[in-house]
Amino acid sequence: MPTTSRRRFLQHASTAGLACSTSLLFGRSLSAHPASEPVRIYVDSKRTISPIDRNLFGSFLEHLGRAIYEGISDPGSKLSDSNGFRKDVMEEIRHLGVPIIRYPGGNFVSGYNWLDGVGPKQDRPRVLDRAWNSLNSNQFGTNEFLAWCKAVGTEPLMGLNLGTGTSEQAADLVEYCNVSNGTRWSELRRKHGFAEPYKVQRWCLGNEMDGPWQIGHMSANEYGTKAADAARQMRYVDPSLKLVACGSSGPGMPTYLEWDREVLEQCYEYVDGLSLHRYFDNAETTGGDTAKFLAMNLSMERQIAETIAVCDLVRGHKRSPKKLWLSFDEWNVWYRERRGDAVNGHGKMAPHLLEEIYNLEDALLVGGLINSLVRNSDRVKLACLAQLVNVIAPIMTNAEGLFRQTIYYPYSWALQFARGAALNLLVESSTYDVPGFERVPHLDVAGTLNSGDGSVSLFILNRDLSNAHELEINWEDHAPARVANASVLTGDDLKAFNSFQTPTKVAPQTFAKPATTGTRTKLEVPARSYTVLQWSM
Ligand code: AHR
Repeated sequence: MPTTSRRRFLQHASTAGLACSTSLLFGRSLSAHPASEPVRIYVDSKRTISPIDRNLFGSFLEHLGRAIYEGISDPGSKLSDSNGFRKDVMEEIRHLGVPIIRYPGGNFVSGYNWLDGVGPKQDRPRVLDRAWNSLNSNQFGTNEFLAWCKAVGTEPLMGLNLGTGTSEQAADLVEYCNVSNGTRWSELRRKHGFAEPYKVQRWCLGNEMDGPWQIGHMSANEYGTKAADAARQMRYVDPSLKLVACGSSGPGMPTYLEWDREVLEQCYEYVDGLSLHRYFDNAETTGGDTAKFLAMNLSMERQIAETIAVCDLVRGHKRSPKKLWLSFDEWNVWYRERRGDAVNGHGKMAPHLLEEIYNLEDALLVGGLINSLVRNSDRVKLACLAQLVNVIAPIMTNAEGLFRQTIYYPYSWALQFARGAALNLLVESSTYDVPGFERVPHLDVAGTLNSGDGSVSLFILNRDLSNAHELEINWEDHAPARVANASVLTGDDLKAFNSFQTPTKVAPQTFAKPATTGTRTKLEVPARSYTVLQWSM
């Protein structure tokens, strides 16, 4: 295992990443609003932020622990199909409708030789993955992943090894995947039994290259130069690619933002997006204070704002007409299973790593984080809940089946209901104090308008741990015809979690459909809750 852990580096995130001006983030929504008055939300269908790219609700699968082996590929299992893919897991992911999935890492990718994972299975080497000290049989590789993506109806977001890998090897993989025939690597793919090119569009140029834990870690200048070279070579092979450069691994990094600036000074004209990563905890950062924990999505918004500022600074330096978008390609709650045996595979295949069990408060914050992504959908065009199966995941499997973790539900609501454009809501909410933030609204609300069917969805996080809040929704132009869907995630025990024994201990409950009178809808959301409401117009 690398001696420098990501955790040690990020332990200062609490101070660096938390301090946040909510009046800046909610400039249009905060006034001194008494708690005795209802929270007022003003919805105007003409006031939108941006169309939401479906890829805002992507996910991530890394060769790590039991994510791939056992999680999605388990040839010996009674639950698998003839390809060895777990049918129940595929069904769950199809049902979710995950639009894009990042693969194969993560830290893993920085030591991965893609050639080990293609060709006849009996010839593939068993190798030691040095990122997680685990054995990789390479029985699942690029072709298996791309076949699996097709089967579940998702798009691949392919990660490239810019750690031990060269720019040439990155371009070779693009050629293997995307060129139809007549070249060395396209012919190798055809020889392997895949006549048609995959036309993979989106690629990540490495992973967390700013982190001293990363295999092949280098300086910003070196990485920016290498990313530019890889991008150039890859685009010679396929000019249509969309490429994401590695931004900072998080606000706790000593090189936060300066890394991003230096990298972009080298590769701005060759890339389309810049990555951000962030994991939240209710321990070191918050001291276990849940009221503070539930405000952490505001610090994600600050990270987004700061990273956009750097992108646009470099854009100015370069006098470039191009505006980069952000790829928040790792985000989640993760703090319990991130040290010792939880991150060390001890040289075994499919070890139990990062098997974080999520409780109700984690799900509430995940709801808040989704709200933040929706509000920033003008610049964040891609984001990945990290990860999808067994490893810091909404879906957990064993030999007999699977269960849904608490965080599954807010994620599934985003996929189901956050369609169309993000609404620029005006929200007047009472607030509470969190050191490091100015004032935190009790209610965090995001909204979407789907012009296709005219539906409006609101996603409402009530951060107040003790009190229900009354809400008054003011429909500025069109009042809705009827409530199509209404669900809430709440409970008395913020630490409650699901398991194979009690798989639905934390699950959505039906929310009473609120009536609309004239241009106003009144309702009450319970304490410590995340509610989704969808109206048809
Ligand atoms: O998602 C788990 C790990 O977190 C990823 O491998 C790495 O990119 C990040 O540090």
